[in-house]
Amino acid sequence: NKVVLAYSGGLDTSIILKWLEVEYNCEVVTFTADLGQGEELEPARQKAEMLGIKEIYIEDLREEFVRDYVFPMFRANTLYEGQYLLGTSIARPLISKRQIEIARETGADAVCHGATGKGNDQIRFELGYYGLQPDIKVIAPWREWDLQSRTALLDFAEKHQIPVPKDKRGESPFSVDANLLHTSSEGKALEDPWVDAEEYVYSRTDNPLTAPDEPDYIEVEFEKGDPVAINGVAMSPATLLTELNTYGKKHGIGRLDLLENRFIGMKSRGIYETPGGTILLEAHRGIEQITLDKGATHLKDGIMPKYAELIYNGFWFSPERDMLQALIDKSQEFVAGTVRLMLYKGSVRTVGRKSPFSLYSMEHVTFEEDSVYDQTDAEGFIKLNALRLRLLNQRGKITEPP
Ligand code: ARG
Ligand code: SIN
Repeated sequence: NKVVLAYSGGLDTSIILKWLEVEYNCEVVTFTADLGQGEELEPARQKAEMLGIKEIYIEDLREEFVRDYVFPMFRANTLYEGQYLLGTSIARPLISKRQIEIARETGADAVCHGATGKGNDQIRFELGYYGLQPDIKVIAPWREWDLQSRTALLDFAEKHQIPVPKDKRGESPFSVDANLLHTSSEGKALEDPWVDAEEYVYSRTDNPLTAPDEPDYIEVEFEKGDPVAINGVAMSPATLLTELNTYGKKHGIGRLDLLENRFIGMKSRGIYETPGGTILLEAHRGIEQITLDKGATHLKDGIMPKYAELIYNGFWFSPERDMLQALIDKSQEFVAGTVRLMLYKGSVRTVGRKSPFSLYSMEHVTFEEDSVYDQTDAEGFIKLNALRLRLLNQRGKITEPP
C-alpha cells in the first residue's frame, strides 16, 4: 500500500509515479539523491509536491558515495572487461540501500525503480533490495506496463496532467546516466557500433584534440590506498573527486567507447566519460608501484576481474564481495605517499612517486657498483629455475609432445 520510488524528477519517473498510484492504488514516497549528477534537486521536490506527494526524501549522498563505494572500489584498480570503470554499477547499491532504509522509516512495503527489463540496472537495484530486505515487494514498471512507445507515454502523461517539457516531446537521442564518477550514454543513436559517436554526445570532457597545448602537473597524496589531498591541499572524498573531474575535463581525459557484455547475456555499446576516475586509477597504480610488495600486487591484480564482475553484476552486498574487499583493504595499509601526474591531451601519466613506506631501493637497483647485492647469487637462482626446462628439453620438445 506504500511504495518508495527512486525519483529523478524527470518525465519518465513522473509518469511512473502516476502509474503507481493508478495501477497499484498506493501511496508513493519519492526518493531523490544527489550523487553528483549535476542536476538541481529543488525542481524534483517541487514536481513531487505538485504531483501531490506528501513524503519527499531529497538527499545529498555525494560524500557517502565516494567514501564508501568509489574509493573502496578504486583500491582494487577495478576495471570491467579491461576498460570500464563501473561508474553506473557502483552507484546502484547505495541507491538500493537508501530506498530500503526509507521504506523502513515510512512503513512502505514496496520499492520501485525505472530501469528497463533488458539491462543490468534492474538486476543491481533488485539484488540490493532483496539482500537488504528479503520480503520487500519490487515494482519494475518497464517490465510490467504497456506504455512501450513514446506516444503511449505522452498520452498517459497528458491524461494525468503531468507537464511535458517541450524538449521532451521528441525521443531523446540516447539514454544517459550520470554521477560524480562518470556519465554513460547508450542506446538509440549510439546503437550502431561501427558509427563513431558525435562530439555532442560528450558532456563532461573537452575534446582532447583541442585540449590545451600546455600540460598540467598535479600531485595526489594517498593514505591507506585512498587519495586525501591534491597539490598539498587536503580535501573530502567528494571534493577531491570533483577537483580531479575539473582537471580531467580540461584535458579531455577519460573518454571510452566500449562494447561490453551485459549480465543478462546481450552485448551493448556505451560511451563513457570518467575524467577524475581515470586520473585516480593512474595515480593509485602509481602509488602502489612504489609501496606494494610484488606478491601482494600480483595477488590483488589476479582477483580484480572477479571483484569487477561482482560489482558489474550487482553483487555489492554479498559475502564474496566482502571477502575480496577485506583482502584488498588489508593490502592498502602502507599504500601512502605522493604521485606526480602529467595531464595532457586526453592522457594521464605518472611522472613521479615518493612514499615514507617505499620499497624501492636505489641502492639495490643501481647500475653502478653496490655493496648490498651479490650478482653471483643470480647464477644459482637462474639455474634452479631452469632445472625443469632442461629436464623437459632432455625428454624432447619443451611445449610439444616428443
Ligand atoms: N552499461 C553500463 C552499466 O551497465 C551503463 C548503464 C547505464 N544505465 C542507464 N540507465 N543509462 O553499468
Ligand atoms: C536500462 O536498461 O535501464 C539501462 C541499461 C542497463 O541497465 O544496462
